[in-house]
Parts: sequence; C-alpha cells; structure tokens
Amino acid sequence: MTDLLQLMKERQSSRTPFDPKAPVSRQDLQQILEAGSWAPTAHNMQNFEALVVDDNKILKQISEIEFPVSKSFIQENYLQLSFSEEELQCKKTGVLATMFPKSWLKPNQIPLKIQNENTDSQTERHHQLLSCTALIMLLYDPAKRAPASEGDFLGIMSIGCVLENMWLMAASLGIGLHVVSALSAEEPEMKIKKMLDIPDFLKIAISFRLGYPLFSPKYLRVRREIGGFAHINHYGKLGLAD
Ligand SMILES: Cc1cc2nc3c(=O)[nH]c(=O)nc-3n(C[C@H](O)[C@H](O)[C@H](O)COP(=O)(O)O)c2cc1C
Repeated sequence: MTDLLQLMKERQSSRTPFDPKAPVSRQDLQQILEAGSWAPTAHNMQNFEALVVDDNKILKQISEIEFPVSKSFIQENYLQLSFSEEELQCKKTGVLATMFPKSWLKPNQIPLKIQNENTDSQTERHHQLLSCTALIMLLYDPAKRAPASEGDFLGIMSIGCVLENMWLMAASLGIGLHVVSALSAEEPEMKIKKMLDIPDFLKIAISFRLGYPLFSPKYLRVRREIGGFAHINHYGKLGLAD
C-alpha cells in the first residue's frame, strides 16, 4: 500500500527534454497500454483508442505544427498561477508562473505580446516534441456517450482514469510523461488527424509525450491536505477527525 502511494507521489509531469538516443521500447509501450486497458471506464465501455507514434519522422512533422494560444487560455491559466514558491505553498493548488512564457503572465497585454512571444513558446514546444521518442494520443468518439451521461461527463472521466493508469505505469518503469493538451486544440487536431489518418468522427481527447528525461524535473509540487478538501458526514465538516 505504501509503495502504491509512494509511486503516486513520485509520478510527475516531465516538462523536460527527453534523451533522443533512448527510445521507449515497444515492450514498455505495451505495458503502458495494458495498464490503460485495465482502467475503470463507465459501463466498461472502454471508450478510447490509443494511437502510439514512435516514428521520428512523424514526430518531427507533428512538432512542426503551429499551436496558437487562445486569449481565454491565457486568462484562465493566469488564475491558476502563483508568482513565488511561497505563494504556491500557501495556496496549495495551481502551478508556478515560471513554467510559462512571460506573455502568458500578463492577461491584460494579451493580443500583441502573445504574437511576439509565441515564437519562444513555439520553439520550446518543438524542442520538447522533437526530443520525445514516443507520443500517445487517446482518441474517443464523442457520439458514443456513456448511458444518460450529459455531455458524456462519465465517458470523459473514464479517459482520465485511462490516462492515470498509463501515467503510473510509465512512472513505475522510470519513463517520463508530459501531457500536451495543445494537440487537442482545433487547428493542431485537424492537422494531426489528417496526417495520421484518424477518422473525422474521433476526437483527440489527450496526448502525452514519453521518454527518458535528460534531467530530473525539479519544481515545487503542492497538494492540499486531506482537511482541505474532505468533508466528513456533512459538507463543511472538514477532515476526518470526530
Ligand atoms: C487533463 C490534463 C491536462 C493537462 N495538460 C497539460 C498540458 O497541456 N501541459 C502541461 O505541461 N501539463 C499538463 N497537465 C499536467 C498538470 O499540469 C499536472 O499534472 C499538475 O500541474 C500537477 O503536477 P504533477 O503532474 O507534476 O503532479 C495536464 C494534466 C491533466 C490531468
């Protein structure tokens, strides 16, 4: 039990370059996929397909796609930022501002600055994508919703379970994983679907790059204590103590 909790705590986002000379083996990819296949899904619908890309030429083509950043992303992302480690430690949710390009940190100066700085974040993303030796995309069919689940809320949660199973397996194999949600944005998704023959009716739910980090990602990771989110018997009675 302790080992499982330890693994969960050690799993982290590897926002680092991966070693291009150390490809993730097909055997390890298989284990990651198998872990995903055993995830719980609403009504056991197993409402996903996984597209694995480990061909360097295709990875390079994907890395060359432009990823426009929307205003709403900048504005909503801003709300999750802490501008110092002390602030993040105090808030216990969100992420450090330092991990984003400077223009993403000033929601009021969006239009001009994003354009100017897009090149930097774009370049960084290219490097990140180029340095990964495998990319997995979880695809789903939005028309096949979980029974009576409005907006397929349950189906989408199911894909989250699949992602977590895969992430934990990757962590246990010493493989870094970094979610790149930007591939699901309208324009990149359209291009990737065309490039990889993904049928129109499928959506890219989530994508993540895999590899062996060239250095260990070191950044402050925070979580709320149980007393910060768990209520006992009645809402508002925080923590588990009587
Ligand atoms: C659905 C989902 C989407 C995410 N999208 C991104 C992303 O696009 N880029 C990124 O760097 N991290 C992304 N993350 C990672 C989270 O930012 C990260 O899990 C969170 O900050 C906690 O950090 P940790 O993974 O190191 O524990 C995503 C995570 C989830 C579950």
